[in-house]
Amino acid sequence: QGEDGIGAVLGSRGLGDVYKSQLLICGEAGIGKSRLAAEAERMAGATGGLVLRARCHEIERALFLQPFVDALRPRVAHLAGQLLRDMVGGWAQVLESLAKGQPMERRYAYEAVTAFLCALAEREPVLLVLEDLHAAGAATVELVHYLARRTSGARLLVVATVRTDDEAVTDALRGPAEVLRLGPLPPGAVAELAARAGLGELADEVFRRTRGHPQFVVELLGEPDLVRQGVPASLRVIVLARLRGLDDQARRVLRAASVLGAAAFDPVLLGEMLALPPQVVAEHCERALARGLLVVSGSAYEFACELTREALYVTTPAPTLVVYQDRARRALLVPPAGRSR
Ligand SMILES: Nc1ncnc2c1ncn2[C@@H]1O[C@H](COP(=O)(O)OP(=O)(O)OP(=O)(O)O)[C@@H](O)[C@H]1O
Ligand SMILES: [Mg+2]
Repeated sequence: QGEDGIGAVLGSRGLGDVYKSQLLICGEAGIGKSRLAAEAERMAGATGGLVLRARCHEIERALFLQPFVDALRPRVAHLAGQLLRDMVGGWAQVLESLAKGQPMERRYAYEAVTAFLCALAEREPVLLVLEDLHAAGAATVELVHYLARRTSGARLLVVATVRTDDEAVTDALRGPAEVLRLGPLPPGAVAELAARAGLGELADEVFRRTRGHPQFVVELLGEPDLVRQGVPASLRVIVLARLRGLDDQARRVLRAASVLGAAAFDPVLLGEMLALPPQVVAEHCERALARGLLVVSGSAYEFACELTREALYVTTPAPTLVVYQDRARRALLVPPAGRSR
């Protein structure tokens, strides 16, 4: 992972070839996608490439091609007028309208952006970074796909980061784009980060509690007093933010699971605790699995790491914990027929 990942994908080929592709950097929140995209930007900058970048914002999903507008507007403004017309002919006016946010035919917009990026790429290699493409509107994703088919000869590299809570964007672009899927850091990498923070002797503990999730590792190392026990406030905020995409019932399922300790739990037991049908609980668990909050352990689930569980536990109101603990005791004491425990 880390530099190895981008090195393996980008560095192993000649730069000329790299600039004729699309790369999706995929993975759960905090796994290091943006860091890797920044790495690609540094590589491009250092080798004389033009870097264009934009972030996709969920709330601006309905704004037509907003990420492309953000990425291209400075260049369009810089070249406005005759220079732009020299580069892209009749598309210049379409680009200027797009940059002003004026409504237009999709096809024209796609053609104009494609022509502009190809014209830029004739002068110097271009890296277009689109951060958080999972939050983009449909037109933006469509245009990325369109670019892959129309710019194959151009020195244009599109790097997009995609959170994999939902695989729709990755599935849509998988054909033309290369997918780089990030996972947790191995123990050796965690040990290196711990050593760099002057906490080498705590490396095993950091790995045990984070299971190598990079953002968790960084946050935990930032609070040396809490490495063995406790949850940094910043981590509570991060875990709560990750719950926001789930509905109320799913959140209750995870909070109830957090009272069961570090052991694996199954949807049947949780269903008993919450008086919910196990298949409903199973669906909630699957969504949490897709978000990287849970992992599968045999025929049961576990929290992806202890810190996630603890963050949930310590942010659940105490009276609610009492209820869940009581329900857990009853469910475990009186196993229904067919339940092997
Ligand atoms: N390999 C790594 N080594 C050291 N720190 C890392 C590594 N990967 C990620 N980090 C750190 O972890 C944190 C989260 O990384 P990053 O912002 O890249 O995640 P992300 O996948 O883009 O998350 P999000 O989906 O929330 O945007 C950052 O502080 C980053 O510097
Ligand atoms: Mg990011």
